Amino acid sequence: MTTSIKETYRGLYHFSPKEKWMNDPNGMVYYKGEYHLFFQYHPYEMTMGLMHWGHAVSKDLVVWEELDIALAPDENGMIFSGSAVVDWNNTTGFFENEPGLVAIFTHHLEQNGSHPVQTQSLAYSKDNGRTWAKHEGNPVLKHDTFIDFRDPKVFWHKQTQRWVMILACGQTVCLYHSPDLKSWTFGSEFGTGIGFHGGVWECPDLFPLNVDGDPSKEKWVMLVSVGDSQDYVEGSRTQYFTGDFDGLTFIPDVDSKEIRWLDYGRDNYAGVSWSDIPAEDGRRLFIGWMSNWKYANRTPAEEFRGAMTIPREIELQSGKDGSVTLVQKPVRELENNRVPVLELTNVSLQEAEKALSTLRLESYELKAVLAFGTSIAFKVRKGGRVETVVGVDADRGELYVDRTKSGMQDFHEQFSGIQTAKLQTQFQGEMLDLHIFVDRSSVEVFANHGQAVITDLIFPDGDSVGISLATDNERLLLASMSVYSLTTSD
Ligand code: FRU
Repeated sequence: MTTSIKETYRGLYHFSPKEKWMNDPNGMVYYKGEYHLFFQYHPYEMTMGLMHWGHAVSKDLVVWEELDIALAPDENGMIFSGSAVVDWNNTTGFFENEPGLVAIFTHHLEQNGSHPVQTQSLAYSKDNGRTWAKHEGNPVLKHDTFIDFRDPKVFWHKQTQRWVMILACGQTVCLYHSPDLKSWTFGSEFGTGIGFHGGVWECPDLFPLNVDGDPSKEKWVMLVSVGDSQDYVEGSRTQYFTGDFDGLTFIPDVDSKEIRWLDYGRDNYAGVSWSDIPAEDGRRLFIGWMSNWKYANRTPAEEFRGAMTIPREIELQSGKDGSVTLVQKPVRELENNRVPVLELTNVSLQEAEKALSTLRLESYELKAVLAFGTSIAFKVRKGGRVETVVGVDADRGELYVDRTKSGMQDFHEQFSGIQTAKLQTQFQGEMLDLHIFVDRSSVEVFANHGQAVITDLIFPDGDSVGISLATDNERLLLASMSVYSLTTSD
């Protein structure tokens, strides 16, 4: 493998564009054996600007092939975020002989001396997403008053046999419905007096999931990303609600009045789920943009800027107290690409330290299982004065990632810091599982069966490839500890 200096921060198993700027994942849809991933893309600059839809496909969610740009700006404006669906029944009339893909996206039109106008438009593809035609009747949905009116996520609602669109509208989300994706009727608005409103609402999603995998217990999940503000250090992040949805109105669970975050790290934003995953698969698959509007335009970069998280499966789990919590797990396909480096069971502190001290790895997966109530800290991407600490603080009942010494961080004064996530005791078994994905510029940590998740960018130098372990507990015993090297590049 050749790695130029310029590529120091290109993840080895995370999607990033070959060159230039990328932000939100868009239009994720599965069709004919391919997972499509479109993305907010500026093909000419290293910062956000003239937005297009870039395009990549994968057969396994792990190895991605970048294709030609799918959608470019036109007289209606730039191409902002949105979704894509398979029009199985040709409701649009765009397709003759076989179904095709329809993208539903925001046109963002800058105007001299006035605020931009955001409208919703369609494009369709008859050749598996390789080429796209814009619908002649664009835009298909406008609004007279909302300045922020964007990021349509569309799905087929079986019970009412029509399309539903959820999109950000001002400080709330709006729900519309349509028989043909072309004419839209307003259904309801959600978000007043509930959830976090510190920044602008963006990139919503809405989908049903079975609680604990039980088909008789269905709940709807709403994701809403909230933009950055100077008022908080966390920057942009994604909240979620659980509730019920009848095709028209979303009724939140009473207990979801508290604010709940999808991820407790800083770098998982604007993520939404894949459309049209076959019923026999049945998973709800998610990917997020691994950055934060607080500093996204300033992260260390030369040829490209922006990467996606690893794809994740989203599930709902009920706790012992009856509450319903969203959990995330790395997709199982990642296991196909990993190469075992260490697989140990019943490991003492000394054995673990010794085994880790021999390793030099920049992109890998580390799994550990330990008794609840044990404090532990893994130091990853370690070398010289550089290290990123992934740990459990048993006294506080918290998972944490400390990136205060993780490498380059002077590009933004609020990048450095420690992120924490509460380990919810209602999920607690005897043992705590820790699942850490490390790459050239990121750590993603899943703990407690995916209940506590922290996704963080890091910018260590290429030589910081050591791993070590720290604990106050000399008698520490890990039920298991495994390390797998993980790459997809040749
Ligand atoms: C979210 C977002 C969207 C918008 C897009 C523009 O990160 O601000 O609301 O459509 O990025 O690139």
